Amino acid sequence: MRTHAQKHPLLIAAVIAMLSVIGAFGVSRIAGTETPGAAEPRPAPAATATHGRQLFVQSCAHCHGDDARGSGEDGDGPNLFRLGISNARIAALIHSGIPDEMPSFAKKHSSQDIAAITTYLRTLR
Ligand code: HEC
Repeated sequence: MRTHAQKHPLLIAAVIAMLSVIGAFGVSRIAGTETPGAAEPRPAPAATATHGRQLFVQSCAHCHGDDARGSGEDGDGPNLFRLGISNARIAALIHSGIPDEMPSFAKKHSSQDIAAITTYLRTLR
């Protein structure tokens, strides 16, 4: 006597194939691998601070010192550790500069760059 399965091997194979496709889809949903084209995540603070450090070396270290502890080769900028001013104030100072003391960086650095430098300065403790 022939069983139902023996009569319809193709049908059974098709059902197994469908189930495995559904299974793979379910796993990919759980693993979060099905979001091509999703927006780039915002950079982590650590990455931003690293970028800010690079910009600081280019633009600020010659006055504030390579370690930001004050007095570089070309100027007597103060120590920037544990600044007692807000992030907004720091960003505004970098943006606008300080007359006769410190240049404006508004043309040299974007506001994202200035935010990165500010994040870096906040790590100095
Ligand atoms: C030409 C030298 C020079 C450069 C370049 C310079 N600074 Fe300054 N900066 C100074 C001086 C001098 C002061 C102190 C001014 C004062 O006390 O009135 C100062 C003050 C500051 C302050 C305020 C410190 C406080 O305690 O309130 C911050 C923050 C600062 N600088 C950040 C930066 C950053 C960030 C850069 C680079 C993007 C930079 N500076 C580039 C000379 C410089």
